[in-house]
Amino acid sequence: MASALVRVGLRENNTPVAVRGQGVYVFDNTGKRYLDGSGGALIVTIGHGVAEIGEAVAAQMKKLSYVFRAHFSNEPAEELAQMLVSEMPVGFSRVLFTSSGSEAVEAAIKAARQYHHERGDHGRHKIISRLDSYHGVTLGAMSATGMHAMKDAGSWRPLQIPVRHINTVRCDDCPFHLKYPSCQTFCATELERAIIEEGPGSVAAFIAEPSRGEEPPPDYWPTIREICDRYGVLLIADEVACGLWRTGRAYCVDHWNIVPDLLTFGKATASGYAPLAGLAMSDKVLDALVNGSGVFLHGHTHSANPMSCAAGLAVQRHVRANGLDRGVAGRGEILDQALRRVVAKHEICVATSGLGLLRQLALRPPRGTNLTIASLVLEALSMRFGLISQYWKAGDRVGFQLAPPYIISDSQILELEERLDRIIPAFAGWLAANRTS
Ligand SMILES: Cc1ncc(COP(=O)(O)O)c(C=O)c1O
Repeated sequence: MASALVRVGLRENNTPVAVRGQGVYVFDNTGKRYLDGSGGALIVTIGHGVAEIGEAVAAQMKKLSYVFRAHFSNEPAEELAQMLVSEMPVGFSRVLFTSSGSEAVEAAIKAARQYHHERGDHGRHKIISRLDSYHGVTLGAMSATGMHAMKDAGSWRPLQIPVRHINTVRCDDCPFHLKYPSCQTFCATELERAIIEEGPGSVAAFIAEPSRGEEPPPDYWPTIREICDRYGVLLIADEVACGLWRTGRAYCVDHWNIVPDLLTFGKATASGYAPLAGLAMSDKVLDALVNGSGVFLHGHTHSANPMSCAAGLAVQRHVRANGLDRGVAGRGEILDQALRRVVAKHEICVATSGLGLLRQLALRPPRGTNLTIASLVLEALSMRFGLISQYWKAGDRVGFQLAPPYIISDSQILELEERLDRIIPAFAGWLAANRTS
């Protein structure tokens, strides 16, 4: 029977139908087992099928399924917010819950603009972001996104707010062809040059993901923070993918001890058991709004939805009760070793990088390869060999984005390595058979 769902590939009708998840595995309706190497879309942390989360959500549903946040707060939202801010960098004391990361990014952009306006700095409205970044699909978030293929799809450019994009930090494939440290972190100081060109009094915020699997040099983020401070630009850390222990620290910015002004979080909050994300405002931003108009007229019907928050609360309790948060760094080391072995085994693999359980594996196809098609082929081959992953392309490379659940065991990491050892030669074979140059 033809599916009634809209898919990315509108002519396709062969996406497998998942019916069950258990631990790091997902099963489709033919019984095929997939190893969840990327936690779906970098989201699953505690693994699939943890019964206590379902029980907590069911209990909440029986007690109170919905209230609108303008009318009521609710217990799980209050408790979860306290739990999250207790681990955030100093100076963060309040969060706004949303249902998706895109919504959280929209809220951050609006809060940044409002912050300046409330302080009488009315000219600041521009956002600076980075190339190859991903911040979501709604119009504002898509504007901030730095992936041209996503921005250009559907002829959507005219709908987007103007956002300037600077280069992303990529030491193993530097866009400036420089070497660290003699480069003096040229990619970070590009932010200063961009602010000056735009006119410092017009820039509201710089938004970036602290890491998506790359490892910035130690002075990258401190330099970015210092430039933002010097020009009165707010720093938005988009931790929708990298927050909540995914990289081995509660928030990824903790690796460099920097404190952003606005912080978005998302995927790991409820581990996929419910749609849940959010924006945390620093007291600096919050105080300007509180002492100004006193309102932040932004939110959604499902902001702080009691059931989503019950799922998030149960997940966060589970993470802490089972020590999964503290385990990520060690799991990440083992995954790193496995990925390094993969790089050593396959000529087409050129690099691996990452922090904790957020890692990339880079492949360099022959010059002239259509990288969009190549990444689709990589995806199709992975699914054929039973590995769930995400894919990226930047410069002349395509790659795997790996972010398995925090519970992945040593033997399951070996299994992931074995699957890569089958997928990569199959991909190299496809490239050889389809050479265009
Ligand atoms: C860093 C980052 N920001 C924002 C988003 C958008 O989140 P969502 O897909 O929940 O709207 C994503 C999703 O992948 C993300 O990785």
